[in-house]
Amino acid sequence: MGKKTAVNLKGGETLALTGELGSGKTTFIQGLAEGFGIKGRIISPTFILMRKYVASKFDFYHIDFYRLEDGLENEVKNLGVDDTWGKNDNVVAIEWAEKIENALPQEVIWIRFENLGEDKRKILIEGI
Ligand SMILES: Nc1ncnc2c1ncn2[C@@H]1O[C@H](COP(=O)(O)OP(=O)(O)O)[C@@H](O)[C@H]1O
Ligand SMILES: [Mg+2]
Repeated sequence: MGKKTAVNLKGGETLALTGELGSGKTTFIQGLAEGFGIKGRIISPTFILMRKYVASKFDFYHIDFYRLEDGLENEVKNLGVDDTWGKNDNVVAIEWAEKIENALPQEVIWIRFENLGEDKRKILIEGI
């Protein structure tokens, strides 16, 4: 699913991923990265918040706010995380994006994940 979605991205998009732990967000991002031609393992930046990968057409930023409390939009701005999104040279994918909903750019593509049990996941993409 992630790999197929990669084809539709040109650069400049911000993907806001939301869904409970284990619903498939990181796995989707691994597929995206593969679709972008990024080699190597994609591990979630849970402790460092953000990781940058260089793809052929743009830089890909993987952000994970799992450990962040809700309502820390100002801190996100102070850390400069918001410098990554809204630029044509970047694609940004944010796990737990709902935690900083008010700081997100207006044109964001929401991707909602649901765990339907064992090996079943529902993925809803809004706005591509
Ligand atoms: N599309 C999918 N179909 C079936 N299993 C999946 C899918 N996406 C993820 N999983 C499985 O669900 C578990 C959690 O996935 P993960 O991507 O780490 O979730 P999250 O990042 O939302 O916490 C993993 O064991 C993974 O193999
Ligand atoms: Mg994850």
